Order: sequence, then structure tokens, then C-alpha cells
Amino acid sequence: MTSSKKNKVDLWFSLPTMIDDEAAMRRCYPLLSAAEHAQFKRFQFKADRKVYMITRALVRIVLSKYTTLSPTALRFEKNSYGRPRVASGCFQDPIHFSISHTRELVICAVASTEEIGVDTESFNREITLELAERYFATSEVKAIKELSGKDQHRRLLEHWTLKEAYIKARSHGFHLPIDGVAFEFEDYPQFRTVLDNKMGDTLTGWQFGHLAPINHHLVAYAVRFVNNLPLHFEVMEAVPFL
Ligand SMILES: CC(C)(COP(=O)(O)OP(=O)(O)OC[C@H]1O[C@@H](n2cnc3c(N)ncnc32)[C@H](O)[C@@H]1OP(=O)(O)O)[C@@H](O)C(=O)NCCC(=O)NCCS
Repeated sequence: MTSSKKNKVDLWFSLPTMIDDEAAMRRCYPLLSAAEHAQFKRFQFKADRKVYMITRALVRIVLSKYTTLSPTALRFEKNSYGRPRVASGCFQDPIHFSISHTRELVICAVASTEEIGVDTESFNREITLELAERYFATSEVKAIKELSGKDQHRRLLEHWTLKEAYIKARSHGFHLPIDGVAFEFEDYPQFRTVLDNKMGDTLTGWQFGHLAPINHHLVAYAVRFVNNLPLHFEVMEAVPFL
């Protein structure tokens, strides 16, 4: 990504259920590394194998667009909290990405900042009030309990995906206390973000929001750039096997 685009986030997505199984095998499987092939074989369910394969192929194909390296030449490593990143030495300019997947949607956000996180959930995903009480801030639970039915369900998903996106952008996974980041929807759909001191972070530069690349899924992002330029998202479907 060039410096003129440094507040740009590219959101690439694929729809596994719209992709023919044989075509996916033929075009995606050869792009995977030996370790990825081994991981592919460990999945019990065919649908999960397919999502795994499409995710790996999508990430390789997408990231290769930002460099001269071919999809198969890219190497990946993980930080100590499990976040994948491109192995050092692959790119001159740093490129960072964040992944989220369900069986119906795979997304990969690419940005020049490491502090990029995305999360997606299907509207069919049930998030109970009990889960919210366990993971959300008290102020969030109180506001959610004032809603009911579809409104409450949607709001639960909105909080959940925003929290996961932030946690991913911070790279620490479940090592961060997730109730320490709260989203207060006082003027829905506008919201403000509150960070507890225990998060070891400030709100400077952070931007949060939702996108809906397809109807039945919610996508949240959390991204921090060090300047105050406006954020620009480009949403693109990647069909790795055409
Ligand atoms: C890591 C975590 C964020 C993954 O989220 P998920 O909803 O289970 O799954 P998603 O499909 O959205 O994301 C999975 C991707 O996250 C990425 N990921 C894994 N660990 C990560 C980390 N520490 N930081 C950033 N990204 C990470 C990986 O790319 C992974 O995909 P891959 O294994 O195919 O490469 C989640 O398991 C977690 O640790 N959550 C902790 C926060 C929590 O308690 N949430 C509950 C209430 S909000």
C-alpha cells in the first residue's frame, strides 16, 4: 500500500457456499503449503475444510496483489497469541491483515497498519444474554436488556463483533479483558467507545464501525491509524478459483 493510501482498508470477501466444491479443490488446494494441507485434513466436517482452504487461498491471492510475490511464495508465521502475519522478509512495505470466517462468509481486511481487526457473524448466530453478562461491560448489558426481540438480537451481535474486531486489532486474543472495551449506543446507530484503564490503551486514532458486504452477515472493524485523515474502505469480492 502506498503512503497516499495509508488510511485505506481493503476488505476482501468470498462466499464459500457459492463455490463449487470441486472447483475449490482444483484451484485453491494447490496454493496451500504442506503445513496447511496437513491442517486441512484435520477438519472433521467437509464444510469446515472448505472454509479453511478458501481462507488460506484467499489470503494468499489477495496479499500477492500487494507485492510481486506469487500466492505460493508467501510465508506466514503467528505471534505468541495466535495472530497470523506475513513472515518477515516477504514485503518491503509492511502489509497487515485480519481474517474472520463463518461457513458462508470469509473476509480478509488488508491495511498498512498492524492495528486492524475485523469480525463477522451470521445473523443466525445466537448470542444469549448469559454470554453478554459474561463478556460485556455492565453498561452494555444494561442497555441491551432494555431492548427485546430482533432489536436485542441485532444489538448483541453488534457489540460482539465490535469487541472481537478490537481484540483482533490489538493482537492479544483472549488475553485481553473483553469487558474493558465498551460500546455505548446512546443515539443508535451512532455509538461511542469507552476504554477501561485495564486495556492499557487510549482511544487516539481508533475508528470502529460496521459494514454489510452481504445481507445476512454483520461485519465489524476496528482500525487505528496514527494520523487524522479520513478512513476509506473498499469492499471487494475475491473469487479465487476463476
Ligand atoms: C482469536 C479470536 C478473536 C477469533 O475469533 P473467532 O470469532 O473465534 O473466529 P473468526 O473466524 O472471527 O477469526 C478467526 C481468525 O482470527 C485470527 N486470529 C487468531 N488469533 C488472533 C489474535 N490473537 N489476534 C488477531 N487475530 C487473531 C486468525 O486469522 C483466525 O483465522 P485463521 O485461524 O483461519 O487464520 C477469538 O477466538 C478470541 O480469542 N476471542 C477472545 C475475545 C472474547 O472473549 N470474545 C468473546 C466475546 S466478545
